[in-house]
Amino acid sequence: MPVMDGVQLVAAVRSLDQDAAVIVLTGAPEVRTAIESLKLGAFDFIMKPVNVEELLIASDRALERRQLLIERRQYQELLERRVEEATRDVQLAYRQLKDTYRATLESLGAALDSRDVGTESHSRRVHGYAMATARAHGVPEDELPDLAHGVLLHDIGKIGIPDAILLKPGPLTKDEWTIMRKHPEIGKRLIENIPFLKGAVPIVYCHHERWDGNGYPSGLRAEEIPLGARIFAAVDAFDAMTFDRPYSKAISFEAAKAEIVRCSGSHFDPAVVTSFLKVPDSLLQEIRRKSIEP
Ligand SMILES: [Fe+2]
Repeated sequence: MPVMDGVQLVAAVRSLDQDAAVIVLTGAPEVRTAIESLKLGAFDFIMKPVNVEELLIASDRALERRQLLIERRQYQELLERRVEEATRDVQLAYRQLKDTYRATLESLGAALDSRDVGTESHSRRVHGYAMATARAHGVPEDELPDLAHGVLLHDIGKIGIPDAILLKPGPLTKDEWTIMRKHPEIGKRLIENIPFLKGAVPIVYCHHERWDGNGYPSGLRAEEIPLGARIFAAVDAFDAMTFDRPYSKAISFEAAKAEIVRCSGSHFDPAVVTSFLKVPDSLLQEIRRKSIEP
């Protein structure tokens, strides 16, 4: 053939139209040419002189095969679209479920706050401070939800503390303190059988432990205390100092940070304190501002 040979023609046709059904007619049969043509996607290979009957059969077969290939591809595309849609639906449902869980936990945290601390925005702020500190500390993103749940629910065990003790205006007696100090244990029992909240248990149970071992309920020391609980302890103290409470006036961010530094190594994990100090004041202010928005 002039310009190009048959094999090149097959390649050119197939590159223009993947679905073209090509039958090669040749007067110079060579096994190599036949193999080349078939490799390039020719549907059939007929030798000259052409037998019309044979050509018609080959054409019918080629068209039928072409139709099947097109239908198979369309079916595959349809399946891929359906899978994509189904995946999107599942992801949306999962996101909605997670949002619902989070909203439920936030409401529960706010309800606990308003009964105990006197301000329902406390847990929202501590949650924000804890997330920022955890990120500054290099806690992996996939571990943050457990920390968030633990922070929001840290005092859930106070549900089991009698109002006469929890809401007592004056100082607690020794016996009353003994009861009050049971709230981490009560909290742990309340949530440990909920699979979704398993990761929050260490924070709920250990949020009153101290770096120097003088905390409760177990008197854990240093890194025996789960990291989430160490982070919580620092940011909870920061919020307690910087927000007006019924029994104490707020102090400035600067003064509160100085106090946290003073208690680094006794109350708080020094490494966590360093990470907390890396969180810029502007971010702390923003978290605080957002927490009191309706
Ligand atoms: Fe507590």
